[in-house]
Amino acid sequence: MKSIAIIGAGYVGLVTATCFAELGNDVVCVDNNAAKVAGLEAGEIPFYEPSLAEMVTRNTQAKRLGFTTDISAAVRRAEVIFIAVGTPMRSDGHADLSAVRAVAREIGLALDGPKIVVSKSTVPVETGEMISSIIREHAPGDYAVSVVSNPEFLREGSAVSDFLKPDRVVVGCSDATAEAAMRDLYAPLDAPLVVTDVRTSEMIKYAANAFLATKISFINEIANICELLDVDVRAVCAGIGYDQRIGTKFLNPGIGYGGSCFPKDVRALEQLAVERDYPAPLLHSVELVNRRQVERTVMKFERELGGLNGKTIAVLGLAFKPNTDDVRDAPAIAIIQRLLDRGAKVRAHDPIANAAAAQVLGPNVALHDTMYDAVEGADALLLATEWNEFRSLDFTRCAKAMRGDLILDGRNIFEPEKVRAAGLRYLGVGRVKLRGKGSVVYETPVSYSATQS
Ligand code: NAI
Repeated sequence: MKSIAIIGAGYVGLVTATCFAELGNDVVCVDNNAAKVAGLEAGEIPFYEPSLAEMVTRNTQAKRLGFTTDISAAVRRAEVIFIAVGTPMRSDGHADLSAVRAVAREIGLALDGPKIVVSKSTVPVETGEMISSIIREHAPGDYAVSVVSNPEFLREGSAVSDFLKPDRVVVGCSDATAEAAMRDLYAPLDAPLVVTDVRTSEMIKYAANAFLATKISFINEIANICELLDVDVRAVCAGIGYDQRIGTKFLNPGIGYGGSCFPKDVRALEQLAVERDYPAPLLHSVELVNRRQVERTVMKFERELGGLNGKTIAVLGLAFKPNTDDVRDAPAIAIIQRLLDRGAKVRAHDPIANAAAAQVLGPNVALHDTMYDAVEGADALLLATEWNEFRSLDFTRCAKAMRGDLILDGRNIFEPEKVRAAGLRYLGVGRVKLRGKGSVVYETPVSYSATQS
């Protein structure tokens, strides 16, 4: 059992803190957002994550898990300190490390003995060295501090089980004491442990996310070509996926990847390369294809509806993927903003993310409590996030409620025959030949430097 401080009570920090407490450690989770900490102390989870609430309650009642805004006290009582603050994208594509720097400074100022400081935030290669020097610069004495990189691979929506049953744990460290402590900490999980130096571990996280994003953009590009050739991409996915070198996972064409990780991590890795004079053309294209997928969806509506001005689009799903309320860089949000820009009205529904989306979209989008309220009077419907409850959408009911007849299945979850049987038109991603030569033409070139919406 170890005494642990986790700094940052977001998706990663709170899950990490709770799971380490569940494993029997003594954990305090720190956040500088006082309202968030007060909420957590009152048993309120600041975001939606299946099975997290019960586990937080169980561990706070057992006094293995506590919350505070007092970083100094938390640092002093802990043997191991995890940094799990956000590293969002700066407007130039680099990772914004200001929160990591601020935390390193506060750890340094609070230091009163030897500590192991672990970066769980996704950070560029060399950040471990930066954390180490900031801590040393502010420390009141010459204490031994080991800085470790331990990137997190959990997925929102299945974060607790991903944390407790990881495919692997990656630990980057430079001394035996830190390695032994990390081995101890993760021993109960019985997962393969990849031990590297700090820089390699930092790179592993970016390489993993870049690979997954590449897989998505690859299959989206194949889907776009399928649309021109009247080939069903789902059959193509099955046909290539049986090859074990390719695999079936993450081969689902759609409206693009989003969320708080892939878009920013692909850009950050690209920037790391660019500033060392390697233009990283593959990463650049991965991102370009992803952004064009959003444009392409809007253009499909424009084309099928004969323009967007005055048209009403119902959007089902706002979170960047199912089982989360996270709308950061969600393709649904980017598509809605473009639809609004082109004069359309948007009605939307998400089972969990309506409130989070309202903060981003403002009053211009009507957010509804049920999927059938959202489709009322719509000229077209976009399925943007593949929540399970949307899979059983009653198309006959939609046909009656809608003014128009177009269903754009942005995640390929519907059977086109069922949609057509209700008298509606079906358009998926890579499943039906698009009308007209050249298919969807991009109206505006997507520029290299345009910021992610
Ligand atoms: P988040 O934005 O949900 O949470 C960050 C938390 O840190 C916030 O509660 C914020 O108030 C707190 N914070 C910021 N500055 C602070 C300071 N100076 N002192 C104390 N608390 C502070 O971020 P999220 O999604 O948990 O991501 C954290 C890191 O983990 C990022 O680097 C991200 O790339 C990485 N990551 C995220 C995953 C995800 O699915 N969200 C998965 C794997 C890695």
